[in-house]
Amino acid sequence: MCGIVGYIGKDKKALNVLIDGLEHLEYRGYDSAGIAFISKDGLNIQKEKGRISNLKEKINFNNESNLGIGHTRWATHGEANKVNSHPHKCGKLTIVHNGIIENYIELKEKLKELGYKLKSDTDTEVACALLDYLYNKYNDMNLAIKDFEEIAKGAYAIGIICDDDYDNLYAIKKNSPLIIGIGNNENFIASDVPAILEYTSKYIVLEDGEFAKITSNDIKIFDKNADNINHDIKEFDGSKEDIGKNGYNHYMLKEIHEQPEVIKKTANHYLENNFNELPDFSKYKKITIVACGSAMHAGLVGKNLIEKYGNIPVEIEIASEFRYKKLFLDKDTLVIAISQSGETADTLEAIKIAKENGCDTAGIINVKESSIARNVDTILYTYAGPEIAVATTKAYSAQVELLSIIAYNIAKSSNDINKLTEINNFLDDLRKLPIVMQEILNNTDKYKDIANNIYDKNDIFFIGRGIDYALCMEGSLKLKEISYLHSEAYAAGELKHGTISLIDKGVPVIGIATDDAICDKTISNIKEVKSRGANVIYLTTASLNKDGDFYNEKIVLPIVNPLLQPLVNILPLQLIAYEVAKKRGCNIDKPKNLAKSVTVE
Ligand code: F6R
Repeated sequence: MCGIVGYIGKDKKALNVLIDGLEHLEYRGYDSAGIAFISKDGLNIQKEKGRISNLKEKINFNNESNLGIGHTRWATHGEANKVNSHPHKCGKLTIVHNGIIENYIELKEKLKELGYKLKSDTDTEVACALLDYLYNKYNDMNLAIKDFEEIAKGAYAIGIICDDDYDNLYAIKKNSPLIIGIGNNENFIASDVPAILEYTSKYIVLEDGEFAKITSNDIKIFDKNADNINHDIKEFDGSKEDIGKNGYNHYMLKEIHEQPEVIKKTANHYLENNFNELPDFSKYKKITIVACGSAMHAGLVGKNLIEKYGNIPVEIEIASEFRYKKLFLDKDTLVIAISQSGETADTLEAIKIAKENGCDTAGIINVKESSIARNVDTILYTYAGPEIAVATTKAYSAQVELLSIIAYNIAKSSNDINKLTEINNFLDDLRKLPIVMQEILNNTDKYKDIANNIYDKNDIFFIGRGIDYALCMEGSLKLKEISYLHSEAYAAGELKHGTISLIDKGVPVIGIATDDAICDKTISNIKEVKSRGANVIYLTTASLNKDGDFYNEKIVLPIVNPLLQPLVNILPLQLIAYEVAKKRGCNIDKPKNLAKSVTVE
């Protein structure tokens, strides 16, 4: 994780660009932040523990500067403090780094023997010392970087300022994201495009192993052999509004409310091209989905839909587990990665392993040109736009939508009349779905009331079966990650095998029963907890709605096409999580210990 930004130009505005860029990158980590810039007095380094606002308060924006680099940190090596925060300076070089240098311990020992005195616990300072050592050896940055890439193992996106040469900004990329923004008499580097969108929408994506030497009006890119190469210039297709709060108190709330539009955009894209970007699923006997966190939960919803309506077995693999287990893959298996950021290290690695095992791969990805997008055979983009809140909402829904589209396409070619009748009118229903979602989002008072009743409890349980269990997992994760309220998701039938001993008077249980094939079973389980004193919130659909004394609160949702029902059902869970976190006074968009993009193992 971590975010990096850099500027070289003629307008003396480096400080504004760096701080502005870091504020946009704060979702990537926010333990500490720092900048290095060249002013008329030479190199200055300023760093602070905590949020970027702490750093900003200390900065004198009257300082004029044409060259600078900045960093916002999500600590991996060494605690979050001022010494460990970036930039790091060794000898003539100052760097910011996103990623992990895996062999830093061994390198540190060698560099110490060479006389380097390292002050921090970080792998970044080791990288800086190594670069400085190599620079002194060759007196040439290109040769130093070429050697560095051969020696340093792991992942890194690095911005470098060299004391001998304040006319150039250097950037290196391997396994961590980095783009170069192209301005008018000014150029930029950043971990993502929105960080510099205020200044330019034109950018170049550096590939792994490449590095760049950048002046205010020239960009030279080199491959791993230090040979000069060219890249296409791309244009970012989002707007500045996409990355503002648009009047909402939090990005998360804005993103929850953007969901009808996101569903429409994603649907339009795939409807317009008649689904011809989808792989030919008839080639495969099995689908394996690799993903982490909420993306994995989206996969679980997809598994239920694809297996039920498409009749193909789907395995869900947590990407970090998949990497180290015995695999049974072959060319009859399609491996699908799901990732909002497209940069999640475990998911990226899982895809590489799948390819090594001879599988075709596809990616359901939100961020264009991201590492996973560039590593899969078939890219299926979601059109959620930039997602800033750390807790995903709209990207999750777009992932589920795409999986519903996949399930529909597989079902369509299977000619199973019974199944096809159940999902009849899918295309029309998909077009109408945003209206249904909008109606739910227009009436949120109920979720505020529920939040008022549960926000001060210690534990909360989500129970459901089948696809509802998959929703429970996402609802529970959403709640715990932003409100810090302990919550657990249970397959409803499993509770009585141990965990029901935790159910006491007043313990909130959200019971989800929206699948008519098994809702009666779930209601029996809900009754079990109600009779032990639980405060039950019963979530169901209009067609399955039951009355009785087995709940305290009831949420009844409109019924839509079964392939799309999960997209309706998730909305109350997102809103309850948001309202609970708000009542508890949490930092909703940037929950503690988390970062948006998990580019470390
Ligand atoms: C939770 C959340 C995470 C991500 C997970 C995967 O709200 O956002 O669990 O879903 O870290 O991230 P991506 O989708 O970027 O691979």
